[in-house]
Amino acid sequence: MLKEFSKSILCIGAGYVGGPTMAMIAAKCPQYKITVVDIDRDRIHRWNSDSLPIFEPGLDKLIETARGRNLFFSTEIDVGIRDADIIFVAVNTPTKTFGQGAEKAADLQYLEKTSRQILAHSTSDKIIVEKSTVPVRTSNAMERILNGGKNNVRFDVLSNPEFLAEGTAIKDLENPDRVLIGSRETENGIKARKEIVDIYANWVPKEKILESNTWSAELSKLTANAFLAQRISSINAISALCEKTEADINEVAAAVGMDSRIGSKFLNASVGFGGSCFKKDILNLVYICQNYDLHEVADYWESVVKINEWQEKRFVRNMLSSMFNTIAGKKIVILGFAFKADTGDTRESPAMYIVRGLLEEHAQVVVCDPKALGNARNDLKDVPGDLLAFEEDPYEATEGAHAIAILTEWEEYKNLDYERLLSSMVHPSFVFDGRNILDHQRLFEMGFNVYSIGRSPLKHFR
Ligand SMILES: NC(=O)c1ccc[n+]([C@@H]2O[C@H](COP(=O)([O-])OP(=O)(O)OC[C@H]3O[C@@H](n4cnc5c(N)ncnc54)[C@H](O)[C@@H]3O)[C@@H](O)[C@H]2O)c1
Repeated sequence: MLKEFSKSILCIGAGYVGGPTMAMIAAKCPQYKITVVDIDRDRIHRWNSDSLPIFEPGLDKLIETARGRNLFFSTEIDVGIRDADIIFVAVNTPTKTFGQGAEKAADLQYLEKTSRQILAHSTSDKIIVEKSTVPVRTSNAMERILNGGKNNVRFDVLSNPEFLAEGTAIKDLENPDRVLIGSRETENGIKARKEIVDIYANWVPKEKILESNTWSAELSKLTANAFLAQRISSINAISALCEKTEADINEVAAAVGMDSRIGSKFLNASVGFGGSCFKKDILNLVYICQNYDLHEVADYWESVVKINEWQEKRFVRNMLSSMFNTIAGKKIVILGFAFKADTGDTRESPAMYIVRGLLEEHAQVVVCDPKALGNARNDLKDVPGDLLAFEEDPYEATEGAHAIAILTEWEEYKNLDYERLLSSMVHPSFVFDGRNILDHQRLFEMGFNVYSIGRSPLKHFR
């Protein structure tokens, strides 16, 4: 380690978590040297360029502050391991697609490979921090691998799950609701925990740094994501009932959310949740519960995912039935492909399932998105070009279209000139607001037939 730095920190995995979290630590702690490594050469190349591999508001500024000063991106994983005092592991932990637990359990192969690589290249004691979201008790397996070596190196394995949300990652990292650090409650475990607390204490108020045992930290992350997703499925389930009964989901959500025991956040009805984490983490929780023979608990949480999938399908069904039960050959413009606003990430985006549902009905789909078109093209590369097009400009996209579907709550889609859009569309013209972000009454008065989530449609025909 270079003398000028008081600690050398390595992060393995330069993705949506590794990149931004380490950029924040580097920006707040110039006394530490932070190196982020990855097996993906192209990703590292982009972290070292002006075209960062991910979009997050405020990320470029943070990188500019620290890169080359005390923040470095590299593919030299072995050297990074050897030189580090503390290693954060932020590799991907996707859902397993094969063998036992397929489609539910976490695929821990990347985590295990990383553990073995750490063992192989370590020549001094290290603190290993799980940043990735993992099944409860995973650190036990990591400890066994790491401490099974014969190189007389001591490893303390801690859990420090990441709670950032994409789209607001920088804000969340700068001002977290809490930072959670779990360790074994042994003398060494507590000592290692204090080292990690000291990092965050550089900018996070002490009362927001929670300490716990390792298993609680691991399970808290899965539980937090399960609760967040559950709120979305809860309000979406009620949205379906609203559509049958002329209740209005916005009014219901406002009334329910004013109960201070419930709170108003995460009560927006929509096409459903997406992103790389919610579904994967809930299914992981379901799998763990099944393994402990807690089948009722497993079924309870699995229903959160089922409602989400149903909500996506319901949206396509509603589009089809509203447009006179046929959308074959009709041009439909998708406004927003990212799984949420302010990110280019499309992993598990409801838009992907909805676009595929529309294509099954032989619609002609045009996908618009200000930040996610690259990922969208990749996600849909199997679809023949005569059925699907990509267009950044909503005005170009909408010419000759029968319908617009809002699938991501991008601010710019709230402020489009809808009169202009309407004037270039086929009539009757439809808007399907899958995020409830538009002024439905105004669009209706303009001449659109307006369908939203959990509210009665506003239509010009019976
Ligand atoms: N994306 C989020 O919003 C978010 C939020 C909180 C927690 N998490 C969790 O954090 C973890 C990482 O998520 P992500 O979204 O950053 O994933 P990601 O896929 O964007 O990044 C993971 C990176 O790890 C790299 N990697 C895999 N194996 C490696 C190895 N052996 N050596 C070096 N690099 C390796 C991959 O090449 C990839 O670049 C996951 O467990 C996820 O559940 C994600």
